[in-house]
Amino acid sequence: MSRVVAILSSPRRDGNSNAIARAVMDGAMGLSTNVIGLYRLGTFRNIRGCTACEECRETGVCHLDDDIAPLLSDIKESSAVIVATPLYFSGPSAQYKALEDRMRSFYGPDGKPNIPPGKKAVILVTCMDDTDGAGQLASNLARFYSNLGFEILGKIVYASGGRETVDAETLAEAKRLGSLLRNN
Ligand SMILES: Cc1cc2nc3c(=O)[nH]c(=O)nc-3n(C[C@H](O)[C@H](O)[C@H](O)COP(=O)(O)O)c2cc1C
Repeated sequence: MSRVVAILSSPRRDGNSNAIARAVMDGAMGLSTNVIGLYRLGTFRNIRGCTACEECRETGVCHLDDDIAPLLSDIKESSAVIVATPLYFSGPSAQYKALEDRMRSFYGPDGKPNIPPGKKAVILVTCMDDTDGAGQLASNLARFYSNLGFEILGKIVYASGGRETVDAETLAEAKRLGSLLRNN
């Protein structure tokens, strides 16, 4: 049984990135026995930004005790992550950025990842109309996870044009990427 952690970073519960992430999760479940750990960062009420204390360089663990702490442990134990965020100007949502900085604890004192190898990642970025900006963010996220040793199974960049729906083609691609996460 493998554990997939879904990181939904939009504060909009029924937003487009969440819809695409749900399609990836659908694909990941199939007939297999994946377990999904679902984290909606928009519901987190207690989030601390990295304080650059550098303690994690020695201990491998971020000492901050907030809503992000259990998510960090879950990512460490997982076999795959689904990362979904809207484009907010040139970056991801603030909630996601706080998580990403806290993942500095995934690097050891030698600068190498200290988390188990062999993990996989699917990257999803939504925007209004700035496809170039969202594509750049998706590439940056892919590089971030790749540097941590994740295999990037695919990226989806979706420009909504203000629509609250996601087209069938994008959802089908999301489901296909999810099927690559099945443990059979
Ligand atoms: C703070 C903020 C900044 C945004 N910046 C951009 C932007 O620079 N370019 C763009 O195309 N859309 C931008 N948007 C629009 C969102 O990226 C877009 O609505 C996205 O689909 C929202 O994702 P969601 O449906 O998953 O919540 C911004 C929205 C917010 C709230």
